Amino acid sequence: MISRDRDQQQHKPPNATRPNPDDFGIHDGISEIIATTISRSGIPNAAPIGIIRNQNRDQICVRLFPGTHTRQNVIETGEIAANIIHDPVVYVESTFGDLTGDVFELPDGAGCPVLKGASAWMIFRCRQLKGNLFELTPVRGEIHDTPVLCTNRGFNAVIESLVHATRYQLNGDERYLDLIKHYGQIVQVCGGSREKEAISKLNTIIKEIS
Ligand SMILES: Cc1cc2nc3c(=O)[nH]c(=O)nc-3n(C[C@H](O)[C@H](O)[C@H](O)COP(=O)(O)O)c2cc1C
Repeated sequence: MISRDRDQQQHKPPNATRPNPDDFGIHDGISEIIATTISRSGIPNAAPIGIIRNQNRDQICVRLFPGTHTRQNVIETGEIAANIIHDPVVYVESTFGDLTGDVFELPDGAGCPVLKGASAWMIFRCRQLKGNLFELTPVRGEIHDTPVLCTNRGFNAVIESLVHATRYQLNGDERYLDLIKHYGQIVQVCGGSREKEAISKLNTIIKEIS
């Protein structure tokens, strides 16, 4: 469970910004982020989720599939945070396991948790439209780092491998293993040490679920 001490309750973020999704790199299309949520009983959770922005309709949504903590928590609390983070290991660990409590913080002393290591985060109010579709309304956000990030094919290949791994876990179709192997080769050529560590963790997980 996450602690909510007095210091946290009095914490006023020094650089809170007006949450315009453009400022957070959330543009038209699907942006992959780590979503953080909390259960009614106070257990924080993190998982990769795609934020779907349709600028023509001026709408931001997520599709939350049944059976995940993220969906259950959003239904319980009506809140979700989008953490912009570039650590591939966090992606692997939060897809197939639980991040430990010390990676989370409560920026308002209560309510929705965010990741301490995020370059930026945005908290949204969340309303179920129909089925798996939930509409998001920005509430507040903070930007911590503004590095100019180059596209790294190794990082992107970790994300593609992970998506195939979640599908493999669902239906056991071995074609996904070929795809994971293909993206793993790109990681070896283009990735840095963190990408290589992430893909190595993923390969261990794949062996365990095969
Ligand atoms: C890059 C990526 C994007 C994902 N996007 C979504 C999504 O938009 N909606 C969803 O329900 N699951 C998505 N998933 C799958 C969830 O992250 C996965 O089911 C996770 O285990 C859920 O964890 P939880 O039970 O802790 O919420 C995605 C996975 C990856 C790797």
